[in-house]
Amino acid sequence: MKNILVTGGAGFIGSHVVRLLVNKYPEYHIVNMDVLTYAGNLANLKDVEDNDNYTFVKCDICDFDNVKKVFIDYEIDSVIHLAAESHVDRSIKDPFSFAQTNIMGTLSLLQAAKQYWDFNWEDKLFYHVSTDEVYGSLGEEGLFTEKTSYDPHSPYSASKASSDHFVRAFQDTYDLPTVISNCSNNYGSYQFPEKLIPLFINNIVNKKPLPVYGKGENVRDWLFVDDHAKAIDLIFHKGKQGDTYNIGGFNEWKNIDLIKVMIATVDRLLEREVGESNDLITYVKDRAGHDLRYAIDSTKLKNELGWEPSLQFEEGIEKTVKWYLENIEWMDNVTSGNYKSYYDEMYEVKG
Ligand code: NAD
Ligand code: TYD
Repeated sequence: MKNILVTGGAGFIGSHVVRLLVNKYPEYHIVNMDVLTYAGNLANLKDVEDNDNYTFVKCDICDFDNVKKVFIDYEIDSVIHLAAESHVDRSIKDPFSFAQTNIMGTLSLLQAAKQYWDFNWEDKLFYHVSTDEVYGSLGEEGLFTEKTSYDPHSPYSASKASSDHFVRAFQDTYDLPTVISNCSNNYGSYQFPEKLIPLFINNIVNKKPLPVYGKGENVRDWLFVDDHAKAIDLIFHKGKQGDTYNIGGFNEWKNIDLIKVMIATVDRLLEREVGESNDLITYVKDRAGHDLRYAIDSTKLKNELGWEPSLQFEEGIEKTVKWYLENIEWMDNVTSGNYKSYYDEMYEVKG
């Protein structure tokens, strides 16, 4: 029996991780700690919410006393930490909340784990989920490896870089057993429609302008979210303590090319005329400090743990577009904010 604390489990990636663990390991108790910010939505987990091996706890990771209480109440022996403020554009507007959640929240969890486990490290693990954005921006060539120096540019990536450093500091200073993974851009179901792919699918459906930053020439390396969740499962069980693993799809796309694929896919599935939505493309002012290119080398994860992405991008994007078209109600609830008040009433608030 393991009691695993997953933080940020009501968010995009966290909900996929929770679903995978709850279904695959009935012998584990998965405790989902989430404060339900605008990005956290318990509807993402409707299909597992009644499982015996799943518990939701509403708690802010920065609230150290309550975090400690959760460790005690549920006898937590492992942590998979995903809770974060995650959107670069928001971090440019409000860097304080990113420092608070991503740095202080991570520190609060590390300190709670250290105190509760009290230097009995056997069968304990603190797994920190991070991003490739900590490595900064690539030029036309090269890939991020686990040895690439940190060079964050946005308040989001700076706060994630800082949290990674704290995790390593706890490993080195106290021997707290940790592992970190740094992943490229994810796409798939249940992603909040402020990020490129769900935002643009929703706008194409509703014939709204598609705001392409700059010239649309920035490059991202896209990974299907289920493949990220599978990598997290593997690293959690087989990763080397104190180590770092890069996770990526070897799947680079220039934004504008990806946008054209989304337009073609939505138009085809909605039986619109070919290229009908191309006119929605609207070039807008570039994002400040916009990183040109991210691309991950995940060879280490493949060679050491045997992980590879399972899905080709064409299949992944088709599945993703179909999911958003079939889940208009989810999208309407999220964009209207309705989901928040409903779920606040349904679940006990800790503290
Ligand atoms: P998300 O924004 O969809 O979800 C974040 C979740 O954390 C939400 O459920 C939110 O309610 C919760 N949360 C935020 N602040 C909290 C707090 N103070 N206390 C408790 N819960 C809080 O994010 P995501 O895209 O699912 O990303 C999850 C993690 O993966 C993050 O750490 C992110 O940095 C990392 N990551 C994301 C990507 C990506 O492409 N989305 C890629 C690599 C790494
Ligand atoms: P995003 O999904 O915000 O992820 P990240 O910035 O963390 O990589 O953005 C992906 C790319 O799409 C990035 O280069 C910025 C660009 N973008 C736009 O051109 N327009 C938009 O409205 C958004 C949200 C993103």
